[in-house]
Amino acid sequence: MNAPHFKNIPLVDLQAQSRSIRDEVLAGMAEVVDSCAFILGPQVKEFETQFAEYCQTDHCVGLANGTEALHMALRALDIGPGDEVITAGNSFAATAFAIAYVGAKAVFVDIDADDYNMDVTLIEQAISEKTKAIIPVHLYGQPARMNEIMEIARRHDLRVVEDAAQAHGAEIDGKRTGSFGDIGCFSFYPGKNLGAYGDGGACVTNDPALAERLQLLRNYGQKVKNRHDELAYNCRLDTMQAAVLLVKMKYIEQWTDQRIQVAAWYREALQDIGVTLPTQHENMRHVYHLFIVRHSQRDEILRKLAEKNVFGGVHYPHPLSDAQPFRDAPCFPMGLPLANKYANEILSLPMYPEMTQAQVKWVAQKLAIAVEEVASLETV
Ligand SMILES: Cc1ncc(COP(=O)(O)O)c(C=O)c1O
Repeated sequence: MNAPHFKNIPLVDLQAQSRSIRDEVLAGMAEVVDSCAFILGPQVKEFETQFAEYCQTDHCVGLANGTEALHMALRALDIGPGDEVITAGNSFAATAFAIAYVGAKAVFVDIDADDYNMDVTLIEQAISEKTKAIIPVHLYGQPARMNEIMEIARRHDLRVVEDAAQAHGAEIDGKRTGSFGDIGCFSFYPGKNLGAYGDGGACVTNDPALAERLQLLRNYGQKVKNRHDELAYNCRLDTMQAAVLLVKMKYIEQWTDQRIQVAAWYREALQDIGVTLPTQHENMRHVYHLFIVRHSQRDEILRKLAEKNVFGGVHYPHPLSDAQPFRDAPCFPMGLPLANKYANEILSLPMYPEMTQAQVKWVAQKLAIAVEEVASLETV
């Protein structure tokens, strides 16, 4: 039998998954249409119950997106002007934006050479009298070192907000990301491991007072209709999105296991081709929102891959300290040497639960050729 041939392989393919649950999703949406309970309808509550349980937490508050989840988490913890919040230098901009939204100052620490998350050995240098919180980011679906981070936070009396936007269902020793800190923040952006059909997000927490505060913050501060107890926001999770997410909750574990399988196929196929593979810690469940490899000629490799109709990406090409609002932010150590170096080397390979082993092999083959082509360019 001939090996399969693929016309192109995208970074993410939402079509296959969308087709597989189309009827269930449309039925769920039809219920919302028929009930007309478009704002905070029963699907929102039901989703919150299920997602809290999924995250091993007592409470979940559905929000408009992951950025607002981070923003509301900091508001709920009363972090504001004059305060400093420590986070990793290599996240998506939203992590640092949320700190700026509340008027606090972002302080960046460099990343671990091995797992690309916050280097926990640098956190204590970054703590000042003004530090109020740490935001570890479980980047790419790989859990940050939460046990160490929680220990530091306890010692210095700091709050912890987890940015778990890329890490639904990730675990350390069986404990889910989002359940370690005071508040865990999730994004349901369509391409995320649990993705809505539009924007969506949530905070999870074990603290009932924080859950109540988050409910007020997302809905104009109203415990009672038209009584506004504080300056608050409109950033509720849509009922329509909750209906979609409820369907997807049935499959999230299966899809996560499929991502882990795709990653295992990649590891096998990419062993000796000259790229650095992601670290897999023994005691952690990495949920592979993204599968990242590193190569010193990343841009050339990406171009060569695209010529072969295999489409990679870069998450993210610049450290947060390069973004205009954060140019003056303190960095530990200065210049974030590793975050800067890796920003030029990281490459996200196609990754989605429906990828087949044949597709993974195809990508690996094309990547191996691209690496060879780039090496031969260098020797010319
Ligand atoms: C690490 C991280 N934090 C925060 C966000 C923000 O989430 P959203 O796009 O839902 O606002 C994202 C995703 O976009 C993300 O990847």
